[in-house]
Amino acid sequence: MGGILRLATHDAMSYSKYENNGGMDGCLQFDDIVNRGLEKYRDLLQPVYEHYSSLMSRADFWALASLAVIEAAGGPRIPFQWGRVDAAHCPEDGGRLPDPTKGHGHVMKLFTRLGFTAEEAVALMGAHTIEGLGWLSEA
Ligand code: HEM
Repeated sequence: MGGILRLATHDAMSYSKYENNGGMDGCLQFDDIVNRGLEKYRDLLQPVYEHYSSLMSRADFWALASLAVIEAAGGPRIPFQWGRVDAAHCPEDGGRLPDPTKGHGHVMKLFTRLGFTAEEAVALMGAHTIEGLGWLSEA
């Protein structure tokens, strides 16, 4: 579940409010180290997406899948909005995704570029608590 949520988030986190581009377009630079491991979740969703590809874009499907994950993990039911447009290439994504080796300044610059406040950034970073759920249920 965490991997699907992370896939959708990485698609979204390339948005720039300054340049008004990037964001959810069903396109990720999978060879970029910051996206390491996410091909697995793209490939997991792809056969399911193919059933619905005449109805919605890949970006909409990834967004919808992440809402399903949030709900299945015990989170709220978040209303879904359609209309994201897919891109075959996303060169503007380069350098926009978070580098986990950097600190607070880097994180705040990223969330400000996305249009979020510090408070909203803290709430969104709470998504990382999902990572331990599988491990906890096995313990
Ligand atoms: C500055 C921002 C962020 C940084 C530096 C960051 C960094 C990371 C790192 C290093 C991982 C582990 C990746 C791995 O297992 O190889 C991770 C996982 C994850 N991230 Fe983030 N992240 C950020 C923002 C977000 C946001 C905004 C969300 C969602 C709202 C999110 C959702 C997740 C989820 C769900 C996982 C777990 C994936 C899994 O279980 O495989 N992240 N993140």
